[in-house]
Amino acid sequence: MFSISGASSALAAWPKCRRTPPCAKPIWEFDAMLTVSNLTAGYGVPNILQGLDITVRPGEMVGLVGANGAGKTTLVRVLAGLLPARGGSITINGSDTTNVPAHARPKLGLAIVLENRNLFGELTVAENLRLAERAGANRPKKFDIPRIVEMFPAVGEKMAVRCDLLSGGQQQMVAIARALLLQPDVVIMDEPSTGLAPKVVKAILEVLRGLCSEGMSIVLIEQNIGIASSVTQRAYVLSTGRIVHHVADGGWPAFLHDPHLVSRYLGQH
Ligand SMILES: Nc1ncnc2c1ncn2[C@@H]1O[C@H](COP(=O)(O)OP(=O)(O)O)[C@@H](O)[C@H]1O
Ligand SMILES: [Mg+2]
Repeated sequence: MFSISGASSALAAWPKCRRTPPCAKPIWEFDAMLTVSNLTAGYGVPNILQGLDITVRPGEMVGLVGANGAGKTTLVRVLAGLLPARGGSITINGSDTTNVPAHARPKLGLAIVLENRNLFGELTVAENLRLAERAGANRPKKFDIPRIVEMFPAVGEKMAVRCDLLSGGQQQMVAIARALLLQPDVVIMDEPSTGLAPKVVKAILEVLRGLCSEGMSIVLIEQNIGIASSVTQRAYVLSTGRIVHHVADGGWPAFLHDPHLVSRYLGQH
């Protein structure tokens, strides 16, 4: 059996984010929040992403796991509008977003926390947050700065500090806070746990779990399947630019106990 690395062992016992049983929800709530259909993209020849199909429903936390170089960040860049799709489509909240420019995607309900966090390092935490709040001003308001401070007290303590002086964990919290102030319906997070102390990872995942139970859709991109399996309901496994496996709701234990699957797709054992 492979080992669950990093913070994940402490998280293994957590209850996962669960949707309300289907029968308790009106039918329109089952419409997908995010759909990726037959998506291809890349930097040169051949394509890196080779026909991806992904669906995320409202209130789901879905994992996207894959080894280093599998194409996870390339997908994030296409979802963000930073790299064009070469084929296929992206639909957010029923709107075809495939060719919408990056700056307009948050208005459709999409927020992305990039791998490098992409904060304005020379601006303070408060300034970064206010910029995001302004950018999200036309969306239905779910988050404001006081609520963010309640969710992340460590962010509240650093409001007047320049972002480039923060620790990695603090920067990650500010990056997530900034994404939330865009008032999104769906948040994509590219490896938010990388390089962070287990305690910080636990705090971040606890916030994500709370968001998901309020109805937000989250795509958690992770190389660490211990973490992904501790909080996501189900997951797509990406390998060399293809979805090679789907871990269905309730399917994590079987996947984790299959050493062939884990080592073949994730290079972990
Ligand atoms: N800017 C780029 N130009 C060319 N190739 C790239 C670029 N960024 C990533 N790649 C390549 O795309 C593949 C997928 O990378 P990436 O999406 O970053 O994977 P992951 O996030 O899963 O580690 C890798 O082979 C990587 O070398
Ligand atoms: Mg990456």
